[in-house]
Amino acid sequence: MLDVQAIRKDFPTITNDNVYLDSVASSLTPVSVIDEMTEYYYKYRANVHRGSYDLSMQASERYENAIGKIAKFVNANPSEIVITGNTTHSINEIALTLDFNEGDEVVLSSLEHSSNMVPWIRLQKKIGIKVRFYNPGKTGIFNINEFEKLLNERTRLVSLTYVSNVLGSIVPVEQIGRICKEKGILFLVDAAQAAPHLKLDVKKIECDFMAFSGHKMLGPTGIGVLYIKQEHADSMMPAFLGGGTINTSECHCESLDTCNIDACTFSDLPYKWQAGTPPIAETIGLGKAVDYLNEIGLDYIAKHDTELMEIALNGLKEIPGIDIYGPLEPEQRNSIISFNIENLSPTEVGRILNEEFNISVRAGDHCAVNYFKDVQGPEQPPGNVRASFYLYNTVEEVQRFLSAVKSISELARV
Ligand code: ALA
Repeated sequence: MLDVQAIRKDFPTITNDNVYLDSVASSLTPVSVIDEMTEYYYKYRANVHRGSYDLSMQASERYENAIGKIAKFVNANPSEIVITGNTTHSINEIALTLDFNEGDEVVLSSLEHSSNMVPWIRLQKKIGIKVRFYNPGKTGIFNINEFEKLLNERTRLVSLTYVSNVLGSIVPVEQIGRICKEKGILFLVDAAQAAPHLKLDVKKIECDFMAFSGHKMLGPTGIGVLYIKQEHADSMMPAFLGGGTINTSECHCESLDTCNIDACTFSDLPYKWQAGTPPIAETIGLGKAVDYLNEIGLDYIAKHDTELMEIALNGLKEIPGIDIYGPLEPEQRNSIISFNIENLSPTEVGRILNEEFNISVRAGDHCAVNYFKDVQGPEQPPGNVRASFYLYNTVEEVQRFLSAVKSISELARV
């Protein structure tokens, strides 16, 4: 079992007054990650790969070391890891890079966050690709046979979340990865909500691309990761070019303004994809967050997640007037519970939880408008209330949350 009380001491934002149940929006950050970034600013603050002096070489070494840890975390090679600003940026980078033709199809699900919807909708308007949606319904549980019916000879890409940010339901990405591989379809996994909790393995999933963010997995804000399978990283032309991406010495161009970019050779992977100065402190900080997660152990975090989920889900089921969204079995959802209280709008419940009980949750559509359009229709209040747990949350906090929801629900029913 996790020593949650000891873990809590590592997180300066945690107090006994406030119950933080919004780690899905952003996790808290341990002191070791903050210290690692501070050390960079205090002791070796210089650019990476651009200087042959000690400070720059030290920064480059620490940066590379962090990339190695991040790559290992998802079972990729460091050459396949591109540092971006966040998951949204990573997905947009692939949308802007892939060479689509009119009539090509992209398959998503109605569980997707806007980040994995809007970039493809733009291509629908701009190029005439067709975006198709699989709708798993209110529980968010995939029926693979139904899903597979959406794939055809025009499908170029399947792009899916691994864990729904609304429901915590888990998408069977390994099965879908196998199907895509058999059919020669590219597969992108949005692992933003999975990375903090589940062991990620790009080889097992057989995906071509994977995106996740530092700020949801104990790391800093302002950093995302894009995994690009080596063969694509080699063959594709990145959307963003600039400093560090091409070998200007090998172009044989007299100057860049007259240069035929197509004749240039790219930098070695992953620098071909790393246009401009990367978020150096944040990469080093994310490397430390990976260390922290590895030291605690994702298996232990998963056991703790399940314990809290069982208490929360079983407790919510007992409260009259609660409408639960997502799977009703604790093992089918990952650290996220979402619901509405009869006679109250989700934003009102979120406000009362904050103001009356000092409990932080998110209320609204969680940027998953298609899911709510499908399951609520236009008359319903938009969205629901979402509480999410992580390794620093205690059983007592979950009980405090349940007791607050019970009080609010009782008041709403009189
Ligand atoms: N994507 C984050 C969420 O689901 C912000 O809340």
